Amino acid sequence: MDGQMSETDDESQTSTQAVLDYHQATKHSYQRYAAGPGYLDWESQPNPFRRYEGARLISLEKTPPTDEPLYDDAFVENQLTPAPLNLPSISQLFYDSLAISAWKSIENSSWALRVNPSSGNLHPTEGYLICGPVEGLTATPMVCHYAPREHGLEVRAEFELELWQQLCDGLPPDTFFVALTSIHWREAWKYGQRAYRYCQHDAGHAIGAISIAAAGLGWQARMLDDLGREELALLTGTSDGHELEQGRIEPEKRAEAEEPDVLIAVAPSGQEMEVTELPGEFIRTFASLDWRGTPNQLSDSHVDWGMDQIAAAVRKPRTSRSCGPPADPAGTWPLDPRPLALREMIRQRRSAVAMDGKTSMSREAFYRILQRTLVVPGSIPFSTLPWKPHVHLAIFVHRVDELPSGLYFLVRDGSQKIALETAFPRTDWRRPPGCPEWLELYCLAEADLRGAAQQISCTQEIASAGCFSLGMIAEYQEPLQRHGPWLYPRLFWEAGVIGQVLYLEAEAAGLSATGIGCYFDDAMHELLGLEDRSYQDLYHFTIGGPIEDNRLTTLPAYGPVTTPSRRRR
Ligand SMILES: Cc1cc2nc3c(=O)[nH]c(=O)nc-3n(C[C@H](O)[C@H](O)[C@H](O)COP(=O)(O)O)c2cc1C
Repeated sequence: MDGQMSETDDESQTSTQAVLDYHQATKHSYQRYAAGPGYLDWESQPNPFRRYEGARLISLEKTPPTDEPLYDDAFVENQLTPAPLNLPSISQLFYDSLAISAWKSIENSSWALRVNPSSGNLHPTEGYLICGPVEGLTATPMVCHYAPREHGLEVRAEFELELWQQLCDGLPPDTFFVALTSIHWREAWKYGQRAYRYCQHDAGHAIGAISIAAAGLGWQARMLDDLGREELALLTGTSDGHELEQGRIEPEKRAEAEEPDVLIAVAPSGQEMEVTELPGEFIRTFASLDWRGTPNQLSDSHVDWGMDQIAAAVRKPRTSRSCGPPADPAGTWPLDPRPLALREMIRQRRSAVAMDGKTSMSREAFYRILQRTLVVPGSIPFSTLPWKPHVHLAIFVHRVDELPSGLYFLVRDGSQKIALETAFPRTDWRRPPGCPEWLELYCLAEADLRGAAQQISCTQEIASAGCFSLGMIAEYQEPLQRHGPWLYPRLFWEAGVIGQVLYLEAEAAGLSATGIGCYFDDAMHELLGLEDRSYQDLYHFTIGGPIEDNRLTTLPAYGPVTTPSRRRR
């Protein structure tokens, strides 16, 4: 027993070291970028749409945006009456989270944009629905792959009602599951070794998008994080070599692997979702289901950027609990609801390609955006994540009225304040003027940091020409060692969820945002005075007044013109 224990511990330590090494190796710095292709091989550009050829496609409904619900009501649990579970509501959930939101075109090129953002618009994240009988959709429990281009569900497997009931035992009536997987190759094609990080950011954005879309329907979304990676693979039919074993396709024509990431239980709000574990013996039954459809190959040729190695190092075993309970609530706050329609905000969200360098925002609007990133009881989308906050915000304020330009720090979990002060040895953590008492925001330095912000974000002007930009600073080495290497992607998911909130809050404030995956990691750490690896910078973000790219034509998401052509720019 002891021997076994230490072997497992050894394995975990080796994997944790592999994760720490991967993170170091994939840092961009002034001296060198992380290993990547250096140029884009357009011949092997991955198809952004996975299809399971041969699987039956169920069309979902496409709904025009509605005035209700109000945007602000979707961020607080139990504000909205639960919608009935049926074809229209399932259609709406995917339409508001993972669907196409518009097509863009220029000259002979066109490409789809989606409700969820993605690094390089490469969209590694795939969505799945696992459900029991749903009125108007199915009488038989099933596992479906979501096809965004068609806004439809591909039926990959059907199974007995008894198995569904066994799986959901203890969960509220009308529970169903949404699962996410990542096709790492899509990002690795362009970004090489650092791509694994971007896939995790994107998964985080998708988790946030699903949580907010569910809230708009009066539903709650909870990540079931005790599941292990192999169980997720069984539930989604993405186990390694599944198709090969069944002799359906030749090895060289094999489709790019999908790495299962997460399972989210969705149920009507107002009912306690106590069960966080699904019974393993029933999950194993999924291995013998009649899985239908052959995944399409996305590129003819591939380059190995080490995605399988890092994915293997972070594979999660089944655990009896995730990484700890949500943080002690900081307290609720009064936020006046604005007359903004949720679905309009969701579908108009767009990354700014350039910021105008002049728009400023009010101090109140700035504080309001930050408040939305806090974890308080029932705050959506953070109630979907079953762990306490690990991520804080180091903010470069450029153009906020009545607030000096400079470096600010938002502590998202007050219990980490002392650890943060120790890690960032600044003498002066001052409260800025007019800051609400329960917003733990501090001014660390007053200065014009536009140049520094731009330099650190790989010299991208969007980081200096907005109202503010920021780095997401995550508690790192100690929790990784405590929980195990599987925490690593979760730190990025949390950053992605925060990013999704920032994107929507920017729209609600009449501004625009852009996620920034390209930044010089250690340059940011140096600027903050961080000398060890207790914290690491995991994602950058900018918010400001956008400059529209008028060369592009916008076409409707599901209008008549949706013939894709390879994007070359
Ligand atoms: C994780 C992540 C990293 C990104 N990094 C950058 C970046 O470094 N620079 C940039 O201009 N845009 C960046 N973007 C924005 C994407 O290019 C954008 O989301 C994508 O083109 C899709 O457009 P949309 O957000 O308007 O749907 C990033 C987005 C995400 C989600």
